Amino acid sequence: MRKQIAAANWKMNLTLPQAEQLVKELLATSYQLDENRRVVLGVPFPYLTAIGSRLDQTKYFDVAAQNCADKKSGAFTGETSVEMLKSIQVPYVIIGHSERREYFNETHAMLATKVDLALEYGLQPIFCCGEPLAIREAGTQNSFVETQLKESLFHLSAEQVQGFIIAYEPIWAIGTGKTASSNQAQEMHAHIRKVITGQYGKEVSDSVSILYGGSVKASNASELFEKPDVDGGLVGGASLVATEFSAIINALKKP
Ligand code: 13P
Repeated sequence: MRKQIAAANWKMNLTLPQAEQLVKELLATSYQLDENRRVVLGVPFPYLTAIGSRLDQTKYFDVAAQNCADKKSGAFTGETSVEMLKSIQVPYVIIGHSERREYFNETHAMLATKVDLALEYGLQPIFCCGEPLAIREAGTQNSFVETQLKESLFHLSAEQVQGFIIAYEPIWAIGTGKTASSNQAQEMHAHIRKVITGQYGKEVSDSVSILYGGSVKASNASELFEKPDVDGGLVGGASLVATEFSAIINALKKP
């Protein structure tokens, strides 16, 4: 079974005391987790160490950075390199979130470089893709997402794509309360898997976890996660509320 993952993206929210309180509340609930059912918390850079060490006592919770630089090191004020993340034992990094693409002008090529750097240093990227509303309305979302994958991932070897994590996040569903229906999510996830099969073969594509993101809540998580190609979620707003995110974790597919 490929990995099922409940991933939180806190974005630019919470002070450190609030973050610690949230983690304390999350860890007070019991979950059925194992090697293949995991939780990843995408926390702001300044909290990676504090929250990461708080999670050390738990086996299946990890932190993720929400971004990384597309340069190795040097005079890039304000940037955080993958090597720095590696040096503080951060195992995951979110790459290509639509907010980064839109507000920080991140291009396909920059994202390809970030993915390469993450893999070079042994971090697992959580690579985001997804179409804006106008593309969905025009009905061209499949080719739009396909281009995002091809341009930033398809230079990788099959070995590098084995066990990869992709998050499909339709932009029109992010923070809008307007979730894609479970059928819309399944349709796009199946398309993504088909595109990966075309490039790398079925064995590799079957190993890739494809998370859905966009207004995932406790009330819709089970319906989304039970779809065959939906391997969990990348959750924004609802991940800031312990009871909501705990229920989302518990909605992960059982083996
Ligand atoms: P919301 O869950 O708030 O819609 O955000 C989704 C998201 O962008 C996760 O990366």
